[in-house]
Amino acid sequence: MEKKIKSRNEADTLNTAKKFVAEFTGGEVVALSGELGAGKTIFCKGLAQGLGYKKVITSPTFVLMKVYHPDHPVIKNFVHVDCYRVDSSDDLSGIGLGDYLKRNDTVVAIEWAEKVKDLLSQARKVYKVKIKSGKGDLERTIEIS
Ligand SMILES: Nc1ncnc2c1ncn2[C@@H]1O[C@H](COP(=O)(O)OP(=O)(O)O)[C@@H](O)[C@H]1O
Ligand SMILES: [Mg+2]
Repeated sequence: MEKKIKSRNEADTLNTAKKFVAEFTGGEVVALSGELGAGKTIFCKGLAQGLGYKKVITSPTFVLMKVYHPDHPVIKNFVHVDCYRVDSSDDLSGIGLGDYLKRNDTVVAIEWAEKVKDLLSQARKVYKVKIKSGKGDLERTIEIS
């Protein structure tokens, strides 16, 4: 799937992620890139909501990885990783991400994924999501490939 979607506000980005994740069957990894404040975390919130996770998710900037258990028939784990403070994939060794990347009952979303590109080869399906700012404060372009 190759898609370019215009987002006019935060709710648009959230809904785009919800629709996108609705097609997931487990084993997908979403590799997000885009500047600070682009909307990567908002997109991840939409992924979690789309999988049936009802509570609030917060950015794992300091803890690197958070694991949620959404209410979904086959997807038992939603793993949210934030590599903002990470230099390379070495910084993520020992947190158990490798296992999650290979699991069919799991969806992994990685912010600043370009820093840990080498890890992505372990995954069955990788989608790249690039968020760019557009005209005005609220406009974004979301590229999914
Ligand atoms: N179209 C949009 N999509 C997503 N976020 C938006 C949009 N317009 C404005 N925002 C705001 O931009 C910020 C994005 O923050 P966040 O998702 O944490 O960014 P990132 O994780 O990429 O650093 C939020 O404060 C959000 O309200
Ligand atoms: Mg973020």
